[in-house]
Amino acid sequence: MLHVLNHPLGAHLLTRLRDRDTQPAAFRAFCHQLGLLLALDATRDLPTRDHVIETPVEKHTGRILAQPLAVVPILRAGLGMVQPFVDLFPDVSVGYVGLERDHVTAVARSYYQKLPPLAGKRVLAVDPMLATGGSAVQAIDVLLAAGATDISLVCIVASPEGVRAVEAVHPTVPIFTAALDRELNTKKYILPGLGDFGDRLYGT
Ligand code: PRP
Ligand code: URA
Repeated sequence: MLHVLNHPLGAHLLTRLRDRDTQPAAFRAFCHQLGLLLALDATRDLPTRDHVIETPVEKHTGRILAQPLAVVPILRAGLGMVQPFVDLFPDVSVGYVGLERDHVTAVARSYYQKLPPLAGKRVLAVDPMLATGGSAVQAIDVLLAAGATDISLVCIVASPEGVRAVEAVHPTVPIFTAALDRELNTKKYILPGLGDFGDRLYGT
């Protein structure tokens, strides 16, 4: 269920994001552009239905989207991936799950939750970094408890450990990522990774 983005522009943008010299304004712009590619990748199997229209010259049966969407960023870094979904799917509902990793234990603590109705929707949980997988597993638990039945996880960089953790607990949740990196370091940061995504996004 792991889908790694396969697009030259994706590789280019990711290298820009990884570069330690990329400053927050450029970092946000690259994040937005990569988010657009990932949003397209994660929604390529959305159902569509017939829809009859009149073109200027004749009647035509086209296809339109048949399933509503919800995007749920895991705060705070996930906020950087919301606008691409809103740009592509203006009717998307937006919910929020606030989780923060403890700097010593790397275990995530829940501090906020605000969700729209999720039943029947394609729910896209977005978080740029999948490291130990603890935050993603907790977020998916929250979405399931809130009634979601069709969940995808969209990230920018995933570690093998994080992918294994999500697949062990939520094997039916597809994971979309721009890169599958090598490993975690002793502080549970992804290698080669790009550092602390939230800090780089917000200049903190
Ligand atoms: C980062 C990141 C993920 C989490 C990944 O957030 O955005 O949510 O760490 O790590 P995990 O897979 O080991 O749980 P962080 O908790 O640092 O909070 P922030 O987004 O507010 O910076
Ligand atoms: N969170 C981040 O922002 N970066 C990592 O490498 C791991 C967790």
